[in-house]
Amino acid sequence: MYLKLKNTKRFCAFTFIDYICLQIYDSEKLNEKFMERTNVKPAEGKLGIMVVGCGAVATTFMTGVLMARKGLAKPVGSMTQYDKIRVGKGDNKKYLSYADIVPLAKLDDIVFGTWDVYPQNAYQAAMYAEVLQEKDINPVRDELEKIVPLKAAFDKNYAKRLDGDNVKDCKTRWEMVEELRRDMRRFKEENGCARIVVIWAASTEIYVPVDERVHGTLAALEAAMKADDREHVAPSMCYAYAALKEGAPFIMGAPNTTVDIPAMWELAEQTRMPISGKDFKTGQTLVKSGFAPIIGTRCLGLNGWFSTNILGNRDGLVLDEPANFHTKEVSKLSTLETILKKEDQPDLYGDIYHKVRINYYPPRNDNKEGWDNIDIFGWMGYPMQIKINFLCRDSILAAPLLLDLTLLSDLAARAGRYGIQRFLSFFLKSPMHDYTQGEEPVNNLYQQYTMLKNAIREMGGYEPDEEID
Ligand SMILES: NC(=O)c1ccc[n+]([C@@H]2O[C@H](COP(=O)([O-])OP(=O)(O)OC[C@H]3O[C@@H](n4cnc5c(N)ncnc54)[C@H](O)[C@@H]3O)[C@@H](O)[C@H]2O)c1
Repeated sequence: MYLKLKNTKRFCAFTFIDYICLQIYDSEKLNEKFMERTNVKPAEGKLGIMVVGCGAVATTFMTGVLMARKGLAKPVGSMTQYDKIRVGKGDNKKYLSYADIVPLAKLDDIVFGTWDVYPQNAYQAAMYAEVLQEKDINPVRDELEKIVPLKAAFDKNYAKRLDGDNVKDCKTRWEMVEELRRDMRRFKEENGCARIVVIWAASTEIYVPVDERVHGTLAALEAAMKADDREHVAPSMCYAYAALKEGAPFIMGAPNTTVDIPAMWELAEQTRMPISGKDFKTGQTLVKSGFAPIIGTRCLGLNGWFSTNILGNRDGLVLDEPANFHTKEVSKLSTLETILKKEDQPDLYGDIYHKVRINYYPPRNDNKEGWDNIDIFGWMGYPMQIKINFLCRDSILAAPLLLDLTLLSDLAARAGRYGIQRFLSFFLKSPMHDYTQGEEPVNNLYQQYTMLKNAIREMGGYEPDEEID
């Protein structure tokens, strides 16, 4: 029996490949549906997700995606897989999932690649990380074993506690860039990928303050790479530069400066590629960006917010080094001041003491425990306290963010959006913004959610709005 597919010239044996044909038909129908409303390019072909770092977060992400596409686990916490957005108003309103509004890449179309300082494949790395139980890894063991880290572009001065030897032998930063570009091209070709996205889930590097002379323009950054300026050009900048040059969106999941410099904004504009960062918003900062608006909305005062936590994974080990912790501290501290603004409410937020600590404590491994002590005040200045004790799992909270950030960055590229993707602030602790123009980042979780929904609506050809659902 043969099936003639509507609007196509394709025929197929119904008994043999009807399933495949119907899938093609479905995706063509879906693409037609999108094309009527939007001019976002369809998500055709394979999407290569190249993850820098093959540690706890990366392997939890990869394992979850592979398990989900076999129907063996649910991608809980992922907005692209679960959230529904209202489109239209009044009688016309309906709630649609992201994939019904915009053409998103499917989990089945994802191919993973990675780089790491350690040579262990993704299966070995997932076992080492001890985030997931063996029973949740073994069903996709074969696939994970095939994900073998490419040699890392690494400089020990940027993460002293790491001593792996799966490292590129590069004489200059420029050589690092060239090797990484070759890696990306080869990966794309060998895996038949239509597009790639590069996401950093490697260790936090030491703090690299923005230096106008080196980071101010693309020409200056390129000159510094060629001159092998190791002080101002972090290895992460080489990954980002290489990705953008290869036509891949880049996402910075750690608090590193990397793409948060004018030189990279210029490159992203030139290559018309989306960039986003910094620092996945997972545990304590998620709570902070969701809880601080309660205090602000209710016009209560704030004297101080003390956040501390213990964690014992390799991330915690790297962050135990003061220079690496400083990068994280800067990122974590930025959240409150843009939600509870001193200038807007000097009586309430004029003198906030905000402190953030991270303590390396091996027995807890990836199961972080965070404590927040919040000193607020109310009517006539009377003090009160709020305590939050969050026993979370770092990588379990981070994994869905990697899925959403990569799928949405790929979408943004196909929608022709480039430069800083502010709509992705929802997923990030220290959202990128143009600080050279005095722009403030949006840290309030609910405002970030509105930005996210409106970007999806706009890309899907619907009207953006600020109605509350
Ligand atoms: N889990 C969370 O909740 C969370 C939240 C925000 C940010 N992050 C950030 O995500 C990153 C990953 O966290 P993790 O728990 O998976 O850490 P991890 O230590 O388990 O994994 C990081 C991996 O990166 C590798 N690496 C370091 N430098 C590299 C380089 N230049 N090139 C290639 N590989 C390199 C390390 O060898 C390590 O295997 C960290 O920077 C962390 O701060 C995590």
